[in-house]
Amino acid sequence: MASPAPSADPTANRNPLTALTLDELRQRTSVKWRAHPSDVLPLWVAEQDVPLAAPVADALRRAIDLGDTGYPHGTAYAEALGAFAARRWGWHDFRVDHTTVVPDVMMGVVEVLRLVTDPGDAVVVCPPVYPPFYAFVSHAGRRVIEAPLGPDLRLDLAALDDAFHRARAAGRRPAFLLCNPHNPTGVVHRRDELEAVAELADRHGLRVISDEIHAPLVLPGARFTPYLTVPGAEYAFALTSASKAWNLAGLKAALAVAGPWAAADLDRMPEEVGHGPSHLGVIAHTAAFHAGEQWLDLLLDGLDANRTLLETLVARHLPAVGYHRPEGTYLAWLDCTRLGIATDVPADEPGVVSDLAGPARMFLDQARVALSSGHVFGTGGTGFVRLNFATSPAILTDAVTRMGRAVDALPSSAG
Ligand SMILES: Cc1ncc(COP(=O)(O)O)c(C=O)c1O
Repeated sequence: MASPAPSADPTANRNPLTALTLDELRQRTSVKWRAHPSDVLPLWVAEQDVPLAAPVADALRRAIDLGDTGYPHGTAYAEALGAFAARRWGWHDFRVDHTTVVPDVMMGVVEVLRLVTDPGDAVVVCPPVYPPFYAFVSHAGRRVIEAPLGPDLRLDLAALDDAFHRARAAGRRPAFLLCNPHNPTGVVHRRDELEAVAELADRHGLRVISDEIHAPLVLPGARFTPYLTVPGAEYAFALTSASKAWNLAGLKAALAVAGPWAAADLDRMPEEVGHGPSHLGVIAHTAAFHAGEQWLDLLLDGLDANRTLLETLVARHLPAVGYHRPEGTYLAWLDCTRLGIATDVPADEPGVVSDLAGPARMFLDQARVALSSGHVFGTGGTGFVRLNFATSPAILTDAVTRMGRAVDALPSSAG
């Protein structure tokens, strides 16, 4: 059968964030669009309001046309990531033979934890951080120890030193789960910061697992450093996938990558873990890394414009809310503590991603805008909301305008 001609892509050379109308988006059945009633603008869970990149859609369409829907095989995904990593980040010693396909990033984190830590051992995380870091680590029988970010929202090396010390004392084989770039703050860790992390981890004997799912989403002005390219990271692992950048969360497949001295550990990954990723997922993620860069660059331009638009909108409609311009991701971490909104849950209780309290509850009830509630991101999260700006400028403008009106209507508003 001849390969089908690539589809004519009406959105080629256009900002993918402006390609779909609200009516089209509301036809989606994923959690972002179905968890709330249709009068709510959903800017919460990390899905993007974009159409599929044409090379990804074409690869999937070809698989469907061929009935190529069996089990995955081979190393094409890792090869595509390796080539992308070399082009984009100058990671030239990426080793395909030091990778393994896992169902998704979080399952990969758990499986790597099972390889290098024991039940009851400590896993250090830097809150505020992606809430499943708590849930998956605890569910795997490991204990979370927090090393909060500093007031500038960057890694706090003194806090890490202290937490690594406590983690070491708490069990035989501790680990550090790094979020690189960081969700929810959008901070992109600098090379010197990562070098300091590697030195500390080595000194205290912690294995580092770097979640790099947001790595392709670094915006102009910042540069992504793959943790495994840092001296001292030879015993570390990275987990990555095309899922966040190309909006492929529904097509499961991710990669675990081992540093040179961790490859023997990765070889111990049980064979059954490789049964989790789907063949269509592998096809989609491979196409994204292999041929999705032009689309990605258009997306990054759109996200860069949106982070500036958001800054303007917050200043105009939410002057009492703090906006820390993200360096990467499509997530904005908004400080609503000066709005004086009471929280009805224990402070900083890491929890379920969809839990709502304080400002996020108020914005849902009063503005009909769904955001992620800060308290589920651990220490330092209460009073904050996370806003997903991977949407059209029109939806972003409508949402922040509504939020501003809701704050203005608060009984004794600080805004
Ligand atoms: C930092 C981080 N890690 C992991 C994930 C989830 O990835 P996956 O669906 O591949 O487990 C997300 C999703 O938003 C994330 O932000």
